[in-house]
Amino acid sequence: MSAVETRGITESMAGYLAGHPSLKYVFFGGKGGVGKTVMAGATAVWAADQGRRTLLASTNPVHSLSGLLGQNVFGKHTTVTGVPNLVALEIDTRDAIERSKRDIQDKIQWFLKFAEISTKADEFVESATMNPAFEESAMFENMIDLMFKDEYDVYVFDTAPTANARRLLGMSKVYSLWVGKMMKSREEAQGLRQLLSFTKKKESDPLMEYLVDFQKRMEHARELLTDAEKTAFFFVTLPEALPIAVITRFINWFTEFGIPVGGVLVNMRIDRGVVKVDSAEFVRNRLAMQDEHMQTVWQKFDGQVRAIVPLFDDEVRGTESLRRLARAVFTKETAAAT
Ligand SMILES: Nc1ncnc2c1ncn2[C@@H]1O[C@H](COP(=O)(O)OP(=O)(O)OP(=O)(O)O)[C@@H](O)[C@H]1O
Ligand SMILES: [Mg+2]
Repeated sequence: MSAVETRGITESMAGYLAGHPSLKYVFFGGKGGVGKTVMAGATAVWAADQGRRTLLASTNPVHSLSGLLGQNVFGKHTTVTGVPNLVALEIDTRDAIERSKRDIQDKIQWFLKFAEISTKADEFVESATMNPAFEESAMFENMIDLMFKDEYDVYVFDTAPTANARRLLGMSKVYSLWVGKMMKSREEAQGLRQLLSFTKKKESDPLMEYLVDFQKRMEHARELLTDAEKTAFFFVTLPEALPIAVITRFINWFTEFGIPVGGVLVNMRIDRGVVKVDSAEFVRNRLAMQDEHMQTVWQKFDGQVRAIVPLFDDEVRGTESLRRLARAVFTKETAAAT
């Protein structure tokens, strides 16, 4: 590619990884359809090929890993054929949500009994779980459960396409605040109850225990997710206006939250080498459009662009295709040749 294009990469993806040998949790974000799933897949295959036990997991309710790998990985940890160190998993969203619902139902039932309120728990459960944020928080809990189990060397998450990813993480902070408040009022209520009761013995309080445990988990998640040695979010964009605008916002949000941004991957760049003066006008125009947006990319993401990945003449499917993509993302030579 032209000198202009490669000049902009000050630290490649390979360079970033070499500088972060303990990197363990890798996430991909960006606008819909830009290539988050294929980048996650390529990264996972690459890490596994380096001999690291890797989990490629999708927390997105609309899964595409099975399609990408040509293998059913829904609902259970599945070894990927042809990649010995790689396990893939599409989290069963419905199952996760049902479990969370049951969990919350128990807590509410206990609480109503404790507070001597004679209302059925169902109504509370319904209103608590109808909230769209409930689904997200159930997925978030699933994700951190995977992380806490610590069964793999590397975790690559294919995140949801919209603001969900950021909200999920922002939530850990909100949770902490919320739980802190809840705990305080629970302690007060508990104190009052003990004061009013004749026996001075301390009652066990499952709701309180749950809250304390929950806060601990959230704090641990926040620690992991804000640790720049262990965690990195990569943002995928196309050399086009909208996807650039989307990741600009993401990067600002994430930086604000103290979540480590690993860098930007520019995907589907048309190979200049194959476009000639007599190429179809359509292709020449698109290349010119991309050239223009690349200027914005260099301006906005100066020092953060890790790779420029070519538009292949074929969709990315199957592990061999992911290996080819991984070469384009992780090896300097291929990236520089785009
Ligand atoms: N560099 C590339 N060259 C050719 N095709 C590509 C390239 N990158 C991605 N694709 C194809 O583009 C399509 C979208 O990619 P992918 O599913 O990874 O995007 P996504 O960001 O995960 O989308 P969603 O937001 O729907 O989850 C897929 O068909 C994929 O094979
Ligand atoms: Mg996807």
